[in-house]
Amino acid sequence: MAEMFIMAIDQGTTSSRAIIFNHAGQIVSSGQLEHEQIFPRAGWVEHNPDEIRNSVNEVMGQAFARARINRHQIAAVGITNQRETTLVWDRETGEPVYNAIVWQDTRTQKICDELAGDEGPDRFKEICGLPLATYFAGPKIKWILDNVEGAREKADAGKLAFGTMDSWVLWNLTGGQHGGVHVTDVTNASRTMLMNVRTLEWDPGMCEVMGIPMSMLPEIRSCSEVYGHGDKESLIIDTPIAGILGDQQAATFGQACFQKGMAKNTYGTGCFMLMNTGEEAVFSKNGLLTTVCYKIGDAKQVYALEGSIAVTGSLVQWLRDNLKIVSSAPEIEDLAATVENNGGAYFVPAFSGLFAPYWRPDARGALVGLTRYVNRGHIARAVLEATAYQTRDVLEAMNADAGVPLAELRVDGGMTANNVLMQFQADQLGVAVVRPKVAETTALGAAYAAGIAVGFWDGEADVVANWAEDKRWVPDTSSQAQVERERLYRNWKKAVTKTLEWVD
Ligand code: G3P
Repeated sequence: MAEMFIMAIDQGTTSSRAIIFNHAGQIVSSGQLEHEQIFPRAGWVEHNPDEIRNSVNEVMGQAFARARINRHQIAAVGITNQRETTLVWDRETGEPVYNAIVWQDTRTQKICDELAGDEGPDRFKEICGLPLATYFAGPKIKWILDNVEGAREKADAGKLAFGTMDSWVLWNLTGGQHGGVHVTDVTNASRTMLMNVRTLEWDPGMCEVMGIPMSMLPEIRSCSEVYGHGDKESLIIDTPIAGILGDQQAATFGQACFQKGMAKNTYGTGCFMLMNTGEEAVFSKNGLLTTVCYKIGDAKQVYALEGSIAVTGSLVQWLRDNLKIVSSAPEIEDLAATVENNGGAYFVPAFSGLFAPYWRPDARGALVGLTRYVNRGHIARAVLEATAYQTRDVLEAMNADAGVPLAELRVDGGMTANNVLMQFQADQLGVAVVRPKVAETTALGAAYAAGIAVGFWDGEADVVANWAEDKRWVPDTSSQAQVERERLYRNWKKAVTKTLEWVD
């Protein structure tokens, strides 16, 4: 019999990818395409949903061609996605009524302020686990219904469908307007503000407060079950689509963080640290989100505390595209290595306000500590350090919530290839930072969820068995290093205060 594989589709913020994995959880082949980032105004970020649909098809084709296998050798397909990015489309025509509004977009600030009223941003936290913030999907749906001509009437008449990108990809792969499946999973639903984080059902009260007809919402399902099969027009005809997880939850699953207290940090456009908190939802006192981590079929759901950082890798892109200080992202490591230290410069990239643990949408970016001494190398260094300091902010909040310090941090994502950053990260955190052999843990997590649903893998024990350490960065614990670590972090905290004081 021909060898069988699992395909994962990762619809991310900057690109879509398809990766084919074998039974050992190793990459067999992949395809990748970037898509346009649309910035219609300051603070607005959109994606073209047609471009995303087409590029998902194309990257699947690339992965098939490179692996020289066909759809009959794919036991199941899993989907993972940039979370919170919001799309509304017409059920009859399959046409989106507006571009996808991306998670980084801050246009819903007024909506969030009005909903917060006198009770403040934590008004709904006990229900949905989240503070009112522009980050989440619910206020974005409201914005579309309030601002796109004719949208509210159509929504009230039951003609519109809402989905995060998982739902959009699934709907299209299963036939679109010709009978597509309209489903999301518990992890994506937990980022909308519309789902009750304990019951895992849409909350009628939340929908009413936001003015969102419940008929628009996809059905909420577990992360690992067969939702539907590839449509006859797709490249995966009749293949079961059997796994969905938001990308950060998928990475947590792919990193085998199955024990309470285990945590991972993914270094992508932003950074997202998730700590497994077991079967009970833990509510943070320190600015972290309560989110569903995963739910495998009928098993009980597992929760996580999450610290989301909006801008890390995208700051390097900004340096490349807007300031042109480097011509490619990896070049930043060499540039940063031309200097001994940051030369006194600190860069707080509050481009979308500040997310965890501050949740200050009004914050704006700042580069402080400048003198004539500071050169490109110092700026590059300050950019890399910003990722590490922001991660420390989140880790300190996690330690405070958990009551016990984290023992080690599992890491993945593009920036983990950067040795300067990873060593600095370990030094700042004071704990070991560990990267697995397969660093594509996001796609891998979605593949595992799909594979478990169809019996390709037996369960979490297989994921643990396949996880293998690649590299470990150990913190410098000398007293001199400790003093320096704290001095730098104190300065970072001062720099953060500057971004909070800024008012346009
Ligand atoms: O919450 C946003 C997150 O899911 C985006 O992840 O990897 O696409 O930047 P990424």
